[in-house]
Amino acid sequence: MEQTFIMIKPDGVQRNLVGEIIGRFEKKGFTLKGLKLLTVDRAFAEKHYADLSAKPFFNGLVEYIVSGPVVAMVWEGKNVVVTGRKIIGATNPAESAPGTIRGDYAIDIGRNVIHGSDAVESARKEIALWFPEGIAEWRSSVHSWIYE
Ligand code: GTP
Ligand code: MG
Repeated sequence: MEQTFIMIKPDGVQRNLVGEIIGRFEKKGFTLKGLKLLTVDRAFAEKHYADLSAKPFFNGLVEYIVSGPVVAMVWEGKNVVVTGRKIIGATNPAESAPGTIRGDYAIDIGRNVIHGSDAVESARKEIALWFPEGIAEWRSSVHSWIYE
């Protein structure tokens, strides 16, 4: 089934939003397949956001991501990439709808609490980058209560 890479950024960890964020994905019905807390270095953050290296905010973005521990996760489920982005909300919290994570918990675009893969292909690359050791193999026992 489809998987996505979700990362709670350093501000989300510092602000004690980890449980709240995990709860939203769990309650939706998605399945947690990978989870760890770690602090990444500049080279790793630059690799994760390589597509944005030409942007004027790139340096600030890298500084932000290396500023403290992040929570890296793999979530699985039908359409989890697109639906995960909906749960997260628009990039700029000024435009994120209330009820989304960024809409409820963020104000500035440069402190927007959470990352989610933007496509199935980027999810595949990001999961390989963040979880080179691989992820858990398990099937939720509530599967048939969530999927028709
Ligand atoms: P991610 O899930 O973190 O990848 O965000 P996104 O996919 O919604 O947006 P995008 O990939 O375009 O940008 C990555 C991150 O860079 C954003 O989440 C912001 O933290 C930051 N960012 C994007 N645009 C701006 C900007 O105009 N100014 C600043 N300061 N930061 C930005
Ligand atoms: Mg992005």
